[in-house]
Amino acid sequence: MERSLYDRLGGIDSITAVVEDFRDRVARDDRINQKFVRTDLGRLTKMLIDQVCQAAGGPCTYTGRTMKAAHAGMGVTSGEFDALVADLVATLSQFKVGKTEQGEVLGVLGPLKADIVEVDSSAVGTPLPPTYQPAPALVR
Ligand code: HEM
Repeated sequence: MERSLYDRLGGIDSITAVVEDFRDRVARDDRINQKFVRTDLGRLTKMLIDQVCQAAGGPCTYTGRTMKAAHAGMGVTSGEFDALVADLVATLSQFKVGKTEQGEVLGVLGPLKADIVEVDSSAVGTPLPPTYQPAPALVR
């Protein structure tokens, strides 16, 4: 049987390292970081790890909101979505994830674009609307 994407990515430790690098890359990226000004980064990091792990066939369960609910009212543009994908590709390449696996990761995430983008524009660096309601911080 073909190994799962989860195993080929190197399991939970590799996925965690990739998500943390990606999160820090996004935080430095002025094309998109304004959207995260009110976000609890601890929660976001855990949710991204669980989402990628589960989507890759790993032993995790994503417990966050749907992509539509999480991004509703955020005013994300197509240009900002593409910027985030470019950051992800940069991280995957830095971690020497193979082209096949990169394609599979993007194949899972690409279709979510329709649930996330609200503004059909190439503009980047647009602010988070004051009306956006962030998720509550994780209680541990
Ligand atoms: C394929 C692309 C994307 C995926 C898979 C994704 C995934 C996620 C996930 C799993 C969460 C956590 C939801 C929760 O806490 O319940 C989240 C939250 C968030 N996403 Fe995305 N996202 C994507 C694209 C984007 C883009 C393009 C932006 C903005 C430029 C963005 C901005 C945010 C922000 C600001 C939050 C935090 C919301 C809060 O404060 O509660 N996301 N995303």
